[in-house]
Amino acid sequence: MTQVDQNSGIVLVTGATGNVGGELVRQLAAAGEPVRALVRSKRGADKLPSQIEVATGDLDRPESLAGPLECVQRIFLLGGHRDMLGLMAQIQRTGVRHVVLLSSRSVLGGSASNAIVRMWRASEEAVGSSGVPWTILRSSGFMSNALEWAQQIRAGDVVRGPFPNVLIAAIDPYDIAAVAAVVLSRPEHEGHAYILSGPKAILPADRMRILANVLGRNLRFEGLTEEETKAELRKSNPEDFVEAFLRFFAEGEFDDSEVLPTVQEITGRAPRSFEDWARAHEQLFR
Ligand SMILES: NC(=O)c1ccc[n+]([C@@H]2O[C@H](COP(=O)([O-])OP(=O)(O)OC[C@H]3O[C@@H](n4cnc5c(N)ncnc54)[C@H](OP(=O)(O)O)[C@@H]3O)[C@@H](O)[C@H]2O)c1
Repeated sequence: MTQVDQNSGIVLVTGATGNVGGELVRQLAAAGEPVRALVRSKRGADKLPSQIEVATGDLDRPESLAGPLECVQRIFLLGGHRDMLGLMAQIQRTGVRHVVLLSSRSVLGGSASNAIVRMWRASEEAVGSSGVPWTILRSSGFMSNALEWAQQIRAGDVVRGPFPNVLIAAIDPYDIAAVAAVVLSRPEHEGHAYILSGPKAILPADRMRILANVLGRNLRFEGLTEEETKAELRKSNPEDFVEAFLRFFAEGEFDDSEVLPTVQEITGRAPRSFEDWARAHEQLFR
């Protein structure tokens, strides 16, 4: 359980309706931390426990955060927003004492000509140059990316997806949130960038087998062809991100398979397995 410092002010959690932010809001609230959840619309508040304080703002419009940042001393921040420098200037002006940025470990190996690497580097640089004490969490791919399969799983036994041969040491968002909760509560983590991974590198077909066991189904994963992969990625990404994903995973520019001890070192317990994640979220596939 996170240690509570009563003098450390409100924690603003961005992405509070998402996988990591949602877990973090619940964990901080359970630890007795004064937490405020940032949502873009009041409808987002319906996804959060009713006792959580909610504020409305848009990270792409730094000026909209003046209200949400009132009395905030610590912030859990998602990256990749339109004006990261403006956002950090707004955060710095309001007297925030510690920002914990969620980044990606793709920032380390990838080339600056890759649009996703550029986005994460720009986010980290904006935080690092802001003058606000910071901690950066560079994560591996998330276990919750399997939610992209939910519709196909509900429709039948064969799930088709990109990059069948790519091993990823996927991490449970619960563990990213657990690391963030510890880091937010202890000043000794300021100035550190931590690389986080899950407990084991697994293929999409391994994840599908585990989900099948949990759901009591006979599910099978099939890889998409290169053309199908491009078409699939284009449904939810701009063209430069489509190219970036292909460079990462089809051309091997980014290896997301290394298993690291960071979650254990920071939280004092082992990271959750994909089976743990699947059991906790099985209702989303039914
Ligand atoms: N998936 C991966 O494998 C992976 C790996 C490394 C890093 N990441 C990064 O980790 C972060 C969190 O991922 P996640 O899966 O927890 O998120 P998610 O479930 O996809 O949800 C995104 C969250 O960000 C909020 N958001 C998006 N744009 C916003 C804006 N302009 N202003 C305010 N809030 C905004 C959304 O709020 P609404 O409810 O208003 O939409 C939502 O709460 C993302 O930045 C992602 O890029 C992901």
